[in-house]
Amino acid sequence: MPTCWLNGTFCDESTASVSIFDRGLLFGDGVYEVATVVRGRLLDADLHLARLERSLAAIRCDNPLTIAQWLETMQALVNANALDEGLVYLQVTRGVAERDFAFPTSATPTHFAFARPKRLLQDPAAAGVSVHVVPDERWARCDIKSTAMLAQVLAKQSARSAGAFEAMMHEDGVVTEGGSSNLWIVQGGTLITRPLSHDILAGITRDVVLELAAGAGIPVLERTFTVHEARTADECLMTSASSFVLPVVTIDGAPVGDGAPGTVARTLREAYIERALRLTAP
Ligand code: PDD
Repeated sequence: MPTCWLNGTFCDESTASVSIFDRGLLFGDGVYEVATVVRGRLLDADLHLARLERSLAAIRCDNPLTIAQWLETMQALVNANALDEGLVYLQVTRGVAERDFAFPTSATPTHFAFARPKRLLQDPAAAGVSVHVVPDERWARCDIKSTAMLAQVLAKQSARSAGAFEAMMHEDGVVTEGGSSNLWIVQGGTLITRPLSHDILAGITRDVVLELAAGAGIPVLERTFTVHEARTADECLMTSASSFVLPVVTIDGAPVGDGAPGTVARTLREAYIERALRLTAP
């Protein structure tokens, strides 16, 4: 049985449980992170933990652990589960208290983490994925990595029902992001992605890909783009810690470009993997 981490101790997942009065359950009053593991080592965990601190500050919740404690815990979790390649999920909620919407006067943040294997380096999705266009029905602070994700659950279920891999969310025809990824297009060799704001999550992979694009001499424009532009782009891409860089080859069943992974997507995926292997080298 896999081992998880809950409120300061490692335990068997089958015995790990939280109170029905946890504010994470009652209100979605919590934040989370998903970090990548390659060759048994965490990738960019420091960047994920910095974003965790930003999310916690935004909801005015204390971080129950220091960054160093989180790093140690996450690596211990990877080791305990003998995880070679996959993901570590962690969550912090405002804790257990009598049900009242406003903050409790005293509550200890609930915190837990678990690890899961996932094929990342040889992901079959690298052959190209499909997206389904849906309205973005989320709140006004999508930069906070909140556990209140009902809108994304519904968006991704719509995508799945349509036979698509990911949702392409939009507001009035302007693309915001994927259900759990950042989205990009390529027009005439220029890589385009939406600028950071309260409207999207500041993806860690997005940041890394911006650097990799600069290193590869690919011109980048941070601007909004429309669903129509995505449909008529030369390429479309999605990025996230759980998928790295994936070519989006169809939008609602219609091919993007020639319907095959494009040069920019392939170049950036290769560069991302090369960096991941370098940073996790024994
Ligand atoms: N999701 N946008 C949204 C809405 C996301 O949920 C995610 C990540 C991203 C990409 O962020 P990053 O590059 O830091 O993974 C963008 C994670 C993987 C998840 O919820 O499983």
